[in-house]
Amino acid sequence: MSSPADSAKVTTATLRAKKAQRQRITALTAYDHLLATLLDRAGVDVLLVGDSVATVVQGRDTTVPVTMDQMVYHCELVGRAAQRALVVGDMPFLSYQVGPEDALRNAGRLLKEGLAEAIKLEGGAPFAATVQRLVDAGIPVMGHLGLTPQSIHQFGSYRARGQDASEQQRIVDDARTLEQAGAFALVLEKVPAALGQQIAEALSIPVIGIGAGPHTDGQILVTHDLLGLFTRFRPRFVRRYAELGTAIEQAVADYCRDVREGSFPAAGESY
Ligand code: KIV
Repeated sequence: MSSPADSAKVTTATLRAKKAQRQRITALTAYDHLLATLLDRAGVDVLLVGDSVATVVQGRDTTVPVTMDQMVYHCELVGRAAQRALVVGDMPFLSYQVGPEDALRNAGRLLKEGLAEAIKLEGGAPFAATVQRLVDAGIPVMGHLGLTPQSIHQFGSYRARGQDASEQQRIVDDARTLEQAGAFALVLEKVPAALGQQIAEALSIPVIGIGAGPHTDGQILVTHDLLGLFTRFRPRFVRRYAELGTAIEQAVADYCRDVREGSFPAAGESY
C-alpha cells in the first residue's frame, strides 16, 4: 500500500522529480473502475488505459480494432477511480496518424470526456509535429518506442526491437526527437536492457520500460498479465505476482458444485 508520505496526486512533474531523485516509477494498465480503484489504493504511480484493452478484455488478436469511443469509455471508468495515480489514455490506431489536427481533436476527447490527464501515442520522428501540436495545446504526451503493437501488420511479428545497430540508433534518435517535441515521458517496449539503459541515461524525461531491462526510470506491465488473469500468451518480460485466473476458475467450479449438490445456499444464506 502507498504510505501517507506519498499520497499526493501524481502529476507529470512528480514523474520528472522521481527521475531526478532516482526513484523508480511504477505504472500499470487499467481499463475499468473496480481494478483501477484497487491499483490506485495500492500506490501505483501511473494508470495507463492501454489500447491493450483490445487483446486483454475484448478478446481481439491485435490492438488495431479498438475504437476512439471505446477508449474514451474505458478512460472515463479509470479516470473516476484514480485519486492519486496519473491517468494516461492511449490513442488507438488511426486516431492520430491522419494528422496533428485530427490527433488534437481525439486527444482532447480523452481529456474532456475520458478524464485522462495525459495521452500516449506510438511512434517516433514521423509524429514529432503531432506531439508538438498536442503539447502546445496543453496536452501532456507520453511517447512509445521499441515494439509498437499498432504496427503489427507492418512488422509481421512481436519480436524484440533494437536487435541491430541501425535499429538501435533509430530508436535512440526517435527518443531524442520525442523529447525535443515536448513529450513528458517515454514507454520503451521489448528492447535489449543495454539500449533501455542508454536511452534512460540520454533523456532528461522519464523512460518507463516494459521488457526494456532493469535500468529504465520505471516499469510498466499489463495488470492482467501480472495478476495471472490473461494467459493466452506470456512474454518473457511478464512476472506473475498472482494466479487469479486459476483462482477464479476454481471458485466458479466450487460454486457450480455446491449449487448442483444443493449445499448452496445454506440456512444462514437464506431468509
Ligand atoms: O496498451 C498498452 O497496454 C501499452 C503498454 C503495454 C505499455 O501500451
